[in-house]
Amino acid sequence: APIPPPDLKSCSKAHINDKEEVSYSCCPPIPSDMDSVPYYKFPSMPKLRIRPAAHAADEEYIAKYQLATSRMRELDKDPFDPLGFKQQANIHCAYCNGAYKIGGKELQVHFSWLFFPFHRWYLYFYERILGSLINDPTFGLPYWNWDHPKGMRIPPMFDREGSSLYDARRNQSHRNGTIIDLGFFGTEVQTTQLQQMTNNLTIMYRQMITNAPCPLLFFGQPYPLGTDPSPGMGTIENIPHTPAHIWVGSRPDENNVKHGEDMGNFYSAGLDPLFYSHHANVDRMWSEWKALGGKRRDLTHKDWLNSEFFFYDENRNPFRVKVRDCLDSKKMGFDYAPMPTPWRNFKP
Ligand code: C2O
Repeated sequence: APIPPPDLKSCSKAHINDKEEVSYSCCPPIPSDMDSVPYYKFPSMPKLRIRPAAHAADEEYIAKYQLATSRMRELDKDPFDPLGFKQQANIHCAYCNGAYKIGGKELQVHFSWLFFPFHRWYLYFYERILGSLINDPTFGLPYWNWDHPKGMRIPPMFDREGSSLYDARRNQSHRNGTIIDLGFFGTEVQTTQLQQMTNNLTIMYRQMITNAPCPLLFFGQPYPLGTDPSPGMGTIENIPHTPAHIWVGSRPDENNVKHGEDMGNFYSAGLDPLFYSHHANVDRMWSEWKALGGKRRDLTHKDWLNSEFFFYDENRNPFRVKVRDCLDSKKMGFDYAPMPTPWRNFKP
């Protein structure tokens, strides 16, 4: 059977690891009619939202996005407003750090085939909330284009101190144009910028093409109701998705944090605005992978298609959503501004 939406009434303390709890509650406000939360229907879409590459966005766009994000941060004045920035970040904490139980086991949306659809829905609502805060129904989240040499650094709009898009809890030595290592698991390698970019493109080829010839390898292993969480990651979730988190988050010895906060840990990752652009590119890889053709198609298992999540929309209405309704981004009302994908030619 598919994974049903979490029961918010049983939402409990999240934990960082086996020993440590998250010190605050990550649970969302419980809707008054929790037992009859309706299925989401797509609102009419006047125009596709086009998500731009973050490094290529112009100042006008950056100003809009900054404004939307600072308005979202202002909503934190009411800690129970589901549209507040912290509440939005807590969605990730609740779904990923064991706050929900499903069929007697902890719900975990990583390390399995739920990874891509969960994050796609999460960003879908996040983007709509930002758009509504600036009255722009065409607002599209920027994507961090780390699969292209021009995007292989923290996009400058996120690296301006004092901006609503900045987060001080990052690895300070990875700022100011440092080239990302898409295979980063904590060890710095000394190499030239050119060599690092080449390595990254080779990693992309391997994870998108060589190692992901069929759906389960790309999406991750089956996770039906009643089975243990975390059956196995898909290629992109493993690398470069996880390395990018670790590369952005604090080192163990800085910022007075212990667990790689913010980006380097599930419970805190959503507190960094860069998280949503990182995931926009992860999501874009889903579309790019399908565009490679052949056997590279969506899964057809019913337990995947009918798995469900719970989200608040931009009008603070609660909804349940199904995986099957998020397979085509254009049907959801958004698409990605095209960028070349040079990794396609980086066969090792
Ligand atoms: Cu839900 Cu990038 O992790």
